[in-house]
Amino acid sequence: MPSILSDAFQGYPVEPHHPMHVDFKSVKELPESYVWAPQQLEDNPSSGNFHGESVPVIDLHDPSAVKLIGHACKTWGVFQITNHGIPQELLDEIECAARNLFSLPSQQKLAASRSPDGISGYGVARISCFFPKLMWSEGFTIVGSPMEHASRLWPHDPRTFCDTIEEYKKEMKGLAGRLMWLMLGSLGVTEEDIIWGSNNNNNGGLGDCSNVDDICDALQLNHYPACPDPERVMGLAAHTDSTLLTILHQNNASGLQVQREGDCWRTVPPLAGALVVNVGDLLHILSNGLYPSILHRVVVNRTNHRLSVAYLYGPPSRVEISPLKKLISTAHPPLYRPITWTEYLGTKAKHFNKALSSVRLCVPIQGL
Ligand code: OGA
Ligand code: NI
Repeated sequence: MPSILSDAFQGYPVEPHHPMHVDFKSVKELPESYVWAPQQLEDNPSSGNFHGESVPVIDLHDPSAVKLIGHACKTWGVFQITNHGIPQELLDEIECAARNLFSLPSQQKLAASRSPDGISGYGVARISCFFPKLMWSEGFTIVGSPMEHASRLWPHDPRTFCDTIEEYKKEMKGLAGRLMWLMLGSLGVTEEDIIWGSNNNNNGGLGDCSNVDDICDALQLNHYPACPDPERVMGLAAHTDSTLLTILHQNNASGLQVQREGDCWRTVPPLAGALVVNVGDLLHILSNGLYPSILHRVVVNRTNHRLSVAYLYGPPSRVEISPLKKLISTAHPPLYRPITWTEYLGTKAKHFNKALSSVRLCVPIQGL
């Protein structure tokens, strides 16, 4: 399956005009290539009346979890979860694996660089090509087996890293599947509402994803070093994820911010042991627009470096995704045309944050 997996994550053009970045550890003064124009960093002032609200924290053991998740998905598109069943030791281990990787000398990390036509490996944020300035971060993307790249990073012991990655991905896949059904369940959609086994079923939704082994996923390790001039840089520029959903583990340094339409940027504070879950573009399509695909970014700070591990969960790459039939009526016509993940990633690579609107159908206004 590696070819299907890599197809699904093809998309963002490589960044030929972006030479690989500086060695963050040795920087005393900010290079111009990292200085963002103030309007690009602007903290869009709030025009809504959401003052003081914060991203919901949901205990998955709470008997009302489904209802709370539904509400969080509709009003935020992001929430944090506790009692999720992922052992703390595994969260510590993956954080340690990420720390080990990013602490390696630059030369060694560069030996495991993402190849020009590849997705896996070390490099700048994959959305860098859409921005004139570099981001204050480095990343490592894993699609399929990490062995090839791990062997370049740790020629004598690639296994330790690979074992942690495989274990983490396995646990995350289980949790993501569970979360997806909780998120859809709160819309009244059950597994029976989706006809499994037919690719172009007329039920809307997910087509054939009955074989969970076909579910595509990826792991993105991120490092945001402490920065001598944090107000002038961007850790990771504002974007939505092209996934069904994303599960993020962040270490105890804050930096992740989310923005609802018409609201200001709000920090998602790190809570020990909690995981951040956000709605991605494809779940937004499935929910026929009921769940917003939340805009998010990362800011950096002067003293703490930050690590995060994003588990990106999507459908099999060639299955058509469309608004669920159960959520469509005369009053709520389908807002999006059917699209496969592969095609969507191609669209995202071209239109970036305008990708969703490029898939949107023109809905006639009733009564006209
Ligand atoms: C991502 C992302 C947030 C973070 O990798 O898509 O949004 O906190 N990461 O690193
Ligand atoms: Ni993201």
